[in-house]
Amino acid sequence: MTTTAVARSFAKINLGLYIGPPRADGFHELLTVYQTIGLHDVIRISAARGRGIEIRCDDPRVPRDESNTCSRIVEKVLAALQMTSRVAIEIEKRLPVQGGLGGASANAVAALLGLERALRKRLPATERLKIAAEVGSDLPLFLVGGKVLGVGRGEQVYPLPDLPPIACVVVTPEVRVSTPKAFAEWDRMQGLKAFSTRTSSPFEPKLTVPAASDKMNKLGRGLSAWLSELHSSAPSDFLKRGGRAENPLLELVRAGIENDFEQVVFPEFPELRDGKRALEHAGAKYASLSGSGSALYGLFASREAAERAAAKLRKQGWAAQATATLTRRQYWSRVVG
Ligand code: C5P
Repeated sequence: MTTTAVARSFAKINLGLYIGPPRADGFHELLTVYQTIGLHDVIRISAARGRGIEIRCDDPRVPRDESNTCSRIVEKVLAALQMTSRVAIEIEKRLPVQGGLGGASANAVAALLGLERALRKRLPATERLKIAAEVGSDLPLFLVGGKVLGVGRGEQVYPLPDLPPIACVVVTPEVRVSTPKAFAEWDRMQGLKAFSTRTSSPFEPKLTVPAASDKMNKLGRGLSAWLSELHSSAPSDFLKRGGRAENPLLELVRAGIENDFEQVVFPEFPELRDGKRALEHAGAKYASLSGSGSALYGLFASREAAERAAAKLRKQGWAAQATATLTRRQYWSRVVG
């Protein structure tokens, strides 16, 4: 007998991303707020008697061998459940394959949820999180959804209070950014900064690691300030004070939230800086690179403003889609249908 399940695999954006010092395991400490959005792929998964994992996808850029994140997670889920099964996974790509939106990570988590459903089994939450983190740093966030604080190497995830949906536009330039290379470039830049500090002030040497931690603490405070502002201004309060959906966006800008990757990715790919500017000119209240890119996003005061901006950007030649942020409740009501 074959059982099947369908899961939507939603994308994420990063509302600020601070890179800390490199760790002994080669990863970097991170501090970020992930936010799920409405753009998604569709995963169809079937389980039958037998063994083996088959990946089907029309998009030639998606690997169909055991390196596929869906394949890797399914293997781990079956091992954890102590089961064997013949699993077929069909990935209907609607999200752009370019990085920054967590597409491959979201596909894997959707495969995990779909497989559990097809097998009528459920792993304990801690086991799910452990397996997800083993496959990649930005998988666990998709087991939380909505607005999510990410720390550690990004795999330690904590749900944050949700805001009402915010309209956004996602721009996906045809550029591929290597995440490990971007981290390496960040380290090189921090090393150069520490060196120049040391040479200009020989009596007060500053080393790379404490400098990076100080920066992370400072930026972390900006993030806390923004989040606590949001939390103290509950949606009903906004309305009572005559506030609009714009308020959280303005507070985000005021808190100086930024994505450190822009400092290394924009100089290498100037067209991405142009994309951010184009979003701002099209009326975004806040625009940023997402993750290490190449996806960019802008947040808008209304759905209409986002739709207008996306149309304008497309006319200028950018691949742009209007969507909205997804609250945790919206996320979970739509993931597995
Ligand atoms: O965990 P994930 O597979 O997404 O990481 C891809 C690569 O990005 C890692 O091998 C590592 O080089 C780099 N990385 C990092 N610090 C992080 C996350 C990723 O250096 N916090």
